[in-house]
Amino acid sequence: MDKITVAVLVGTARELRLSIFAAKYIAEYGKKLPNTEVILVDPQEFNFPLDGNDLEYKDPRYTEITRRADAFFIIIPEYNHSFSGSLKRMLDSEFDTYNHKPVALAGVSNGGWGGTRAVESMVPVVRELGMVAISFDVYFPRIQEIFDNSGKIRPDLKKHYDQSIGSLYSELIWFAKILKANRSSN
Ligand SMILES: Cc1cc2nc3c(=O)[nH]c(=O)nc-3n(C[C@H](O)[C@H](O)[C@H](O)COP(=O)(O)O)c2cc1C
Repeated sequence: MDKITVAVLVGTARELRLSIFAAKYIAEYGKKLPNTEVILVDPQEFNFPLDGNDLEYKDPRYTEITRRADAFFIIIPEYNHSFSGSLKRMLDSEFDTYNHKPVALAGVSNGGWGGTRAVESMVPVVRELGMVAISFDVYFPRIQEIFDNSGKIRPDLKKHYDQSIGSLYSELIWFAKILKANRSSN
């Protein structure tokens, strides 16, 4: 079976972002899975001027990653009950390259809701982009209490997060294999 490529999207370009710890943890988890390639996609490293998806407003490196990806895992910090502008800007820059690919969502907040409202507001977006959203998510409420300043997960929470993230990858890869096989036969 071919390798499955998962693009893990960091959901903000904010300088002091804490959700980067969740994104890196999820990316590192995926790298240990068999036959799985993980690409961590950080909006800080891409160039998206203005708005839209016309050629001059795309970043060709992001175009190529979305083309190559068989699945997406989006880490979404909650900003004013929704997702960040930079995440939406990055997503908006492409369209066809997301089609018929599965997506898992992770919510992050520094309060107790864990980014649930941000994740819920992302569902119609990924649906419009032609992606298949996994029916469950993972949440990081009070992110500042989950990871230390170096990004190390709290030992007593590791098992819980490994189980949740593992279940999500398992579902994501199940969909990715089926959709990939059928995309290539079209
Ligand atoms: C502009 C802005 C708006 C925010 N709005 C919310 C919010 O509506 N609800 C919430 O729980 N946390 C909110 N937060 C806190 C973030 O969830 C918190 O910073 C968390 O660490 C994830 O974001 P980060 O990766 O930027 O750190 C907001 C943060 C910013 C910067």
